[in-house]
Amino acid sequence: MKFFIDTADLEEIKAAKDLGVLDGVTTNPSLVAKIVQDPDNFTYKDFKDHIARICEIADGPVSAEVTTLTAGEMIAQGEDLASIDDNVVVKCPLTLEGLKAMRHLSGSGIRINATLVFSPAQAILAAKAGAAYVSPFVGRLDDISTEGMALVEQIVGIYDNYRFPTEVLVASIRHPQHVVEAALIGADVATIPYKVIGQLVKHPLTDTGLKRFMDDAAVIRNG
Ligand code: G3P
Repeated sequence: MKFFIDTADLEEIKAAKDLGVLDGVTTNPSLVAKIVQDPDNFTYKDFKDHIARICEIADGPVSAEVTTLTAGEMIAQGEDLASIDDNVVVKCPLTLEGLKAMRHLSGSGIRINATLVFSPAQAILAAKAGAAYVSPFVGRLDDISTEGMALVEQIVGIYDNYRFPTEVLVASIRHPQHVVEAALIGADVATIPYKVIGQLVKHPLTDTGLKRFMDDAAVIRNG
């Protein structure tokens, strides 16, 4: 299972990379907005420069999302974003216009992450459009009292049936159990907020066990 970090924060990306478990990065406009210090002067060029900086840090795929709505605009922007770095994956929303853009961009060799996916039907379309990744948003489904992980299970089953090469990238992860459940189902990728990566490490028995080992290690004398 691959671990991506779901952030646009360069420090978080560096910290996750230092842990040695980082396989890629996903961003979206909301995550980018969080790191903008001067919103009145943040241009499209600044956005592209920021994606370039992420690519310099991360060794794997970096998802950059289009900020346009029509297929023509998404295609033009997708080609522009993909020109930033070979590792850029263009994120397009699963709408009718997004679908057309995905088909066109994937046909020209640009890797696509189909985003805002909330149903198995949308996931089938993403695969048929040649998306490299499909992003089911589990946390947002949980938020409306729907079992988000059931969607992941359905997508993995459908993709297995037809041997679709599209990778299932579980997004909108809110806690470590989401990561574990995604792994049990066999999802290809989990994109995880930095805070949740930290939570994956923690177990109270590890902390108390370590304290006891350190206390008992006092009997081991130098020399
Ligand atoms: O990157 C897309 C997704 O992970 C967003 O998560 O927490 O805004 O639902 P969230």
